[in-house]
Amino acid sequence: MSNPNDSSVHLLGWLWRKYLHKHLWLLLAALGFMALEGSMLGALSWMMGPMFDQVFVAGDHGAIWWVGGAILTIFIVRALASVGQKVLLALISQRSAADMRTELLDHMMEQDSAFHQTHPPGFLIQRVQADVEAVGQVWNAIITGAGRDLVSLIILMGVALSVDWQWTLVACIGTPIMVLPSAIVQKFVRRRAREARDSGAKLATRLDEVFHGIIPVKLNRLEGYQSKRYRDLTGDLVRAEVKAKLGAASIPGLIDIMAGLGFLGVLVFGGAEIIAGEKTIGEFMSFFTAIGFAFEPLRRLGSVTGIWQNAAAAIERIKELLDTQPSLTSPALPKPAPKGTPEIRLENVHLSYGDTKVLNGATLLAPAGKTTALVGASGAGKSTVFNLLTRLVDPQMGKVLIGGTQARDLSLPDLRGLFSVVSQDAALFDETLRENILLGRTDVTEDQLAKVLTAAHVQDFLPKLASGLDTPVGPRGSALSGGQRQRVAIARALLRNTPVLLLDEATSALDAQSEQVVQEALDQLARGRTTLVIAHRLSTVRNADKIVVMDKGRVVDEGTHDDLLARGGIYADLHALQFKTDGPTADSLAQAAQDQRRKGNGKAARGSGDPGETSLLSRISRRLFGR
Ligand SMILES: Nc1ncnc2c1ncn2[C@@H]1O[C@H](COP(=O)(O)OP(=O)(O)OP(=O)(O)O)[C@@H](O)[C@H]1O
Ligand SMILES: [Mg+2]
Repeated sequence: MSNPNDSSVHLLGWLWRKYLHKHLWLLLAALGFMALEGSMLGALSWMMGPMFDQVFVAGDHGAIWWVGGAILTIFIVRALASVGQKVLLALISQRSAADMRTELLDHMMEQDSAFHQTHPPGFLIQRVQADVEAVGQVWNAIITGAGRDLVSLIILMGVALSVDWQWTLVACIGTPIMVLPSAIVQKFVRRRAREARDSGAKLATRLDEVFHGIIPVKLNRLEGYQSKRYRDLTGDLVRAEVKAKLGAASIPGLIDIMAGLGFLGVLVFGGAEIIAGEKTIGEFMSFFTAIGFAFEPLRRLGSVTGIWQNAAAAIERIKELLDTQPSLTSPALPKPAPKGTPEIRLENVHLSYGDTKVLNGATLLAPAGKTTALVGASGAGKSTVFNLLTRLVDPQMGKVLIGGTQARDLSLPDLRGLFSVVSQDAALFDETLRENILLGRTDVTEDQLAKVLTAAHVQDFLPKLASGLDTPVGPRGSALSGGQRQRVAIARALLRNTPVLLLDEATSALDAQSEQVVQEALDQLARGRTTLVIAHRLSTVRNADKIVVMDKGRVVDEGTHDDLLARGGIYADLHALQFKTDGPTADSLAQAAQDQRRKGNGKAARGSGDPGETSLLSRISRRLFGR
């Protein structure tokens, strides 16, 4: 909290340089309008003098018209200036909020995956939406304060002083008692505002989790549980917001008390002078109106401090995000991307997440233009290899080489432009099917698209969709089946036409028949490219040029299907498990294991407690699952 970077001046300076500076001319125009609006109050209070003294007291009929006309003009100018400044302010604050939001989005998209694992989407959405909103409010408050309110205050004080400087001094008698309490209140408000912003982010995160996980919530009957968690969190927000409000409102409250003291003083002091005939009623009315008008802008200026503390808490959070630097970035001097079809090599790669070792000296070669399959138990580190290649994560040790160049020496766009990834869960956007396949490209002809659709077998389910290619696919593609989503992902890959293809369980969500057709499409796609395939179903990988067997973060064996079978390691065991019981279409390890167990025991046994049993199954399961 004592961090000098959190000081109001520092934050304001930052805000000014980054977002407001470029709107300088608009700002000056808005300030001009506000000054005009503010000065009209001074003019109005000044007109009280002639109104009382010439019209009411002296009874000058002619004066009614010019005084009345002047007052009408004052109100018309004020109205026009007020409209002008509001429109300009809205323009400035909306434009700078839009800049800030876009910059935040750009910045967050650059962050490492680790950042996104620790900053859930709801939290980030809250930063981009609500926190930027809070900053927008302060621009309005500060600019209006500095423009209209400060100008009116100065002019009104001028009018009051011109009537009587002693009265003015008396009216301001309460001011010194304001200083200390408001300094204390400011700190209090900032602290509460921070809490409110943080619990706002937590609430947004909960909402995001619930809405994204709505199906599991329903199926596990978690509605009551989620609702209670949400309600508990709202309690924190309510407390923080109410306390912040109390603090923020207490400053204008103090100003009110100060005003009361001032009025009392002026009445006692000035009342005596009027009774004694030293001052006219008109002068008193002019003074009284000026001071009366002055308290409103003063109260507003007082509340600016509260609004500012609230916004400062939001700016701190936004700045924190903008100051976070990704570690996975393009090098300063990137090497040129490899030409043609590159080979892919991992050399003694070590990778851990925290204390969890994931890759433990993995070394492998995927020859250029050939298909290499990665097989191994769940958690062996296969998908992690893909993440290393595309630099979603960097290794702690070892080399990741693409066409002889280290992945980290290439610019990120160049590197990622080498790969098409079709993965376990095809991530679709809430757009139409066409947009999901084109992904922003405008250089694809209808002819090319049609070919891709046919090759990826998207064409097969198109007629079932209400508006064909222009059907919206729902949030995360929820209106499509798993297999349909995978075919969309394959179509994307076909269209990208990159030299390297990464297929991570690319056909796992397809039925046997569709798998066969899509597999043909993928085989076609793989031709002439360096392809890495991850698949649990060995039927998918038996034709690969090379099969790499991974276990616990290392490569433990490699060769062709026939080599590996002949050698009789993990791969052979795996193969026996998958093909012995159900034949080549077996698609579930668990199912196969169950069948095997049934066969082995002759009856349905729940976990074989027989210590003498050293069946194929238990050997495999020990290798695969470590038990
Ligand atoms: N971001 C992460 N943070 C911590 N641990 C992770 C992270 N990503 C992966 N892991 C761990 O790394 C290990 C390897 O994961 P990986 O996804 O590479 O396995 P896999 O071989 O692809 O398994 P599967 O066949 O089930 O897809 C797992 O134990 C997993 O828990
Ligand atoms: Mg995986």
